[in-house]
Amino acid sequence: MTGRDLSGEVAQLEREAADALVAARSTGELEEVQSAVLGRRSPLARAHRVLAGLDPDERRAAGKALHEARTRLETLAAERAKALAAAERAAMLERDRLDLTEVTESEVRSALRRGRLHLVDQTRRELEDVFVAMGFTVAEGPEAETDWYNFEALNIPPAHPARSMWDTFYLELGQPETVLLRTHTSPVQIHLMEERPPPIHAVIPGRCYRRETPDARHLPVFHQIEGLVVDRGITFADLAGTIETFTTAYFGADIHSRLRPGYFPFTEPSAEVEVTCTICRGKGCRTCSWTGWVELAGCGMVDPAVFEAVGIDSEEWSGFAFGLGIDRCAQMRHVIADMRAMVENDVRFLRQF
Ligand code: DAH
Repeated sequence: MTGRDLSGEVAQLEREAADALVAARSTGELEEVQSAVLGRRSPLARAHRVLAGLDPDERRAAGKALHEARTRLETLAAERAKALAAAERAAMLERDRLDLTEVTESEVRSALRRGRLHLVDQTRRELEDVFVAMGFTVAEGPEAETDWYNFEALNIPPAHPARSMWDTFYLELGQPETVLLRTHTSPVQIHLMEERPPPIHAVIPGRCYRRETPDARHLPVFHQIEGLVVDRGITFADLAGTIETFTTAYFGADIHSRLRPGYFPFTEPSAEVEVTCTICRGKGCRTCSWTGWVELAGCGMVDPAVFEAVGIDSEEWSGFAFGLGIDRCAQMRHVIADMRAMVENDVRFLRQF
């Protein structure tokens, strides 16, 4: 073989070797290819052995060509080895990755757990059930009211000192301080008596608003269930019996309740319903302001002035009314020290009910 033949052959061998190196798909495969194209038994090594039989000039030229080809192939092999090793390492990391975000079985279960009604909604429904079982119907009324329904028709004229019992959110509608967010559900008593003639036996659940700083027992948005009974011959004994039946049905026999004289402009006489504070069991704590008792409701006999406002003859009809705090009922029944928990939306709290 002449030097020229050899140079041509080297170029051809180099191309084939380079193709084979590039085609290798793994570091293992690359090692095999490498030894096949650059090793002692490779065509390149064989060509090297041919050099010995050439004359000096040809040997030098062909030797140089061979050396350069080998150097290029070795560089290529090293680059391929590096690239393949990196790809294999990445694939291994991906495969063996410990997924620390992996969810536990109990988390999967709780994610699949069905949603539920908020404690306040559950309580509203339970209270409705108790009163429906006692013969009441369920009604509702608007949350935005006029001053007349929220105050005046309830015997609370403008500038009456009792207005300070309710810190009011007024809406920017009409004359200043004429449209407001109801401070209690009592205005629905007026709507009901305007809409239908007695007898009336109704409960009215709903949302109420007061400008109050939230604390353990108060929220600026809260819920009441109003009760109104208008019939012939209704007495305070009917009211007291209804309250007693309700507290036993909702709280059970071991929670004590009491009626205390109170004052509301729309009832006469008026009373407050209190239960033993369930947080401290009557010993006194932050939640009950160290009194041992928590107010659940106001109640009383409908004041004749209210009947007059809606055109009901108070000689023929009499009635009682009550306004019960729904959130308060839930708080005492489920022993929730701070009512603010009900609106914080911490699922660990909400899930308990
Ligand atoms: N509306 C009163 C309040 O929120 C509670 C109340 C007291 C309602 C006496 C009544 C009642 O129906 O007769 O403070």
